[in-house]
Amino acid sequence: MQKTLPILENIDTARLPQAECDGPASVYLETYGCQMNVSDSEIVASVLRDAGYGLTHDPLQADVVLLNTCAIRENAEQRVRRRLEFFRARKRKHNTNLKIGVLGCMAERLRHKLLEQERLVDIVVGPDAYRDLPRLLHQVDETGQSAVNVQLSREETYADIAPVRYDSNGISAFVSIMRGCDNMCAFCVVPFTRGRERSRNAGTIVRECQGLFDAGYREVTLLGQNVNSYRDGPVDFATLLYRVSLLSPELRIRYSTSHPKDCSEALLEVHRDRPNVCNFIHLPVQHGNSGVLQRMRRGYSADEYRALIEHTRRICPGVSLSTDIIAGFCGETEAEHQDTLALLADIRYDHAFMFMYSERPDTYAARKYTDDVPKEVKKRRLSEIITLQKSISHENNQKEIGRIHTVLVEGASKRSKAQLCGRTDTNKMVIFDRGTLSAGMYVKVRITGCTSATLFGEVLAG
Ligand code: SAH
Ligand code: SF4
Ligand code: F3S
Repeated sequence: MQKTLPILENIDTARLPQAECDGPASVYLETYGCQMNVSDSEIVASVLRDAGYGLTHDPLQADVVLLNTCAIRENAEQRVRRRLEFFRARKRKHNTNLKIGVLGCMAERLRHKLLEQERLVDIVVGPDAYRDLPRLLHQVDETGQSAVNVQLSREETYADIAPVRYDSNGISAFVSIMRGCDNMCAFCVVPFTRGRERSRNAGTIVRECQGLFDAGYREVTLLGQNVNSYRDGPVDFATLLYRVSLLSPELRIRYSTSHPKDCSEALLEVHRDRPNVCNFIHLPVQHGNSGVLQRMRRGYSADEYRALIEHTRRICPGVSLSTDIIAGFCGETEAEHQDTLALLADIRYDHAFMFMYSERPDTYAARKYTDDVPKEVKKRRLSEIITLQKSISHENNQKEIGRIHTVLVEGASKRSKAQLCGRTDTNKMVIFDRGTLSAGMYVKVRITGCTSATLFGEVLAG
């Protein structure tokens, strides 16, 4: 779940507002992993601010360094470990009072290792225990001992906490609508790190979205590991989406992630009927072969998934689709791998996030199967998948040339200050000249060029 990508690089902390930067002790917060973690860091910032902590964008000025971590694949964990080593060295050499903490999914998974065996950190806090952070920090201060809370909860949704949007562009915001996951896909660590699925109260979600709109935001992304199993009493996900869409025609709504096994008719109808519910669905398939999907415990076959895509395209013409793919899952044969390539070639997604299978301890796959596809084979299969998808994305983008899109301006483009960027309804990033435009405006843009990842366009007058 990179703004719309499942896996984010570090938050650009240079954009922390100065106003947040003074306080009795200052905390530097760095976020890894999915959009859910970005949203959680905004909750952590809120809890800490309310407890009187300052936030700093400079890790070298901080009294407390907190890494909000991801455990989804081994390389995600390795990246965090390298960063922890860096801060440990800094603590040893320059600032013996520095407190280092691990939050999020690795905290849940590696609590004993991080604290007791490796003595790498002072504080370990799981995703459901962020309200306890001030007490834990205080405890470390008082006792000089490490502190931990990795208790998972069946109720916690942080519904009443107003997130501090410290890394926001002021235009698009994440709104967390549920936590945890009950799906237990064979490869996935999330149910272990985030616990049982629970939905946040619908009224608080609608109010948060209204508040964001009033503060100038023009796009919300509703977040959950499996949003289409959202339920608060009579309110299911389709109803929630519909309600949020009524707030203003000027507010665009996206969500991530929906699970193919329970993508409902009512949800597709909301897409069709509500113009501000974006014509874009991220629908992770993971694999193109039914045997592998069964081993993955995804709850659908390749044919059922293909039928769902056909149906979705019938109800929502022009819908843009993206997906997640895993290459080299346990027992994957060459023929099964070919089925993934065939599915990509048939469906022609606009975009895909593609990964090499990484065994995660305690998962069903780790307990029951053998991680038997050699690394070299996984790498080769992944690169075949990436090459194919890249060419499909490029071809799809070329078809956009000459078309006109309504784009929500998000801010300066990364490459040049003279240019702006924003996304189409269908979630494609477009770059165009700044002119007199500013962030938060909707503009009509004619597409003039593309790469596989980006469109270029010219703004139409009026
Ligand atoms: N809840 C989302 C996925 C969240 S994790 C969903 O079900 O759609 C994001 C993606 O990471 C997954 O879709 C999957 O493609 C990938 N992933 C998860 N576990 C993985 C593992 N052990 N190895 C490689 N990729 C994995
Ligand atoms: Fe993981 Fe599956 Fe839950 Fe997604 S739906 S978070 S892949 S267990
Ligand atoms: Fe997200 Fe990584 Fe946890 S993908 S849910 S931060 S394991």
